[in-house]
Amino acid sequence: MYKPFEIADKIYSVGCRDWDIRDFHGYSTYEGTTYNSFLILGEKNVLIDTVKAKFADEFIANISRVIDPKEIDIVISNHTEMDHTGCLTKIMDIIGKDKPVYCSKMGAKNIKSHFKQDFNFQIVGSGDELKLGNRTLSFLETRMLHWPDSMFTYLVEDGILFSSDAFGQHYAGDKFFDDEIGNEIVPHARKYYANILLHFSSRVQDLLQDVTKMNLKINMICPDHGILWRDNPSKIIELYDKWSKQKPTNKVVIIFDSMWESTTKMAKAITSGVESENVNVRLMNTRKWHRSDIITEIIDAGAIAVGSPTLNNGIFPVIADVLTYIKGLKPQNKIAAAFGSYGWSGEAVKILNKEFAEMKFDIIDDGIRIQYVPDEDDLNKCFDLGVKLAKTLKERLAGGDNA
Ligand code: FEO
Repeated sequence: MYKPFEIADKIYSVGCRDWDIRDFHGYSTYEGTTYNSFLILGEKNVLIDTVKAKFADEFIANISRVIDPKEIDIVISNHTEMDHTGCLTKIMDIIGKDKPVYCSKMGAKNIKSHFKQDFNFQIVGSGDELKLGNRTLSFLETRMLHWPDSMFTYLVEDGILFSSDAFGQHYAGDKFFDDEIGNEIVPHARKYYANILLHFSSRVQDLLQDVTKMNLKINMICPDHGILWRDNPSKIIELYDKWSKQKPTNKVVIIFDSMWESTTKMAKAITSGVESENVNVRLMNTRKWHRSDIITEIIDAGAIAVGSPTLNNGIFPVIADVLTYIKGLKPQNKIAAAFGSYGWSGEAVKILNKEFAEMKFDIIDDGIRIQYVPDEDDLNKCFDLGVKLAKTLKERLAGGDNA
């Protein structure tokens, strides 16, 4: 059982850990996740967000260790997705449906759509405040970070930002704060950014600029997933600034699948070509790497090579899966090249180039198609393609297109 703990004076973390989840709507969560929820006690008792429905009993038990759940006066819903509203109707059944639910305009619409219930919605937008005796909550709409309803809630006097999904990580462990876990949490935060927020990077940049202009004192950031940033909250803000700029680095990611190892041989020869130019490389077989790990590697790569054999006049299904996922998340500033073996028709490279063009990648080569099995000359051509990718990337970076 996840014990509630006090994160600041009379503010408790009452959420639940999901140790077992390994697939979060298509995102691999090897270390589970948490659904964070926060209880602020005072003249009015406020609950910020709830948890996934299957954890209802544990959630109510956690709240009960702090106060009788009936004593909650106000609910704030920062975000409608059901990992955070899954217990909203249950809470409202307990506290009474006349109790106010503070949310954005889109939040009210989306809660009604999800649960087919109407509540006493109190619509708030950026700059609106809610006085709680000697404390003040201020709201900041963060549309499309990552849903239309998303917003932050800021506890002014304490400098605590309840940031919904933003700055989160899918991580369940025995550590609850950044100072307890250290840099070990950064890869989880990076993966979370790549898979949930990359698509909205320009909005992240706008938000960071808005927050800077507002000159908010931020002592602690409390996302709805993972650890809380209390020791150095500026660290995750700086990382979001870096990731959202999507500036390329000296790194090539080579993604491939293979039927009879011909495309594997090509991928390895391209890898050797890249390495011969002292450029960093990641070789990722789509049978071995989950799509959510591949996009995490891609966010700072300056170049991508994708290899697929031709199957039934198309690309390999697993490659199509990964490309569909990558395309949706809209990585930017990449140079690209395609490769693949074929038997008789050989459409894969052409299809891959079409995919690259749709993703606005800069295609630096027509790509390499090899019939059946590559010989030494073919593999030399692949090596040369790796060299070309690396040299082109280095030229771009030397020209100022770098982090
Ligand atoms: Fe953690 Fe968008 O829900």
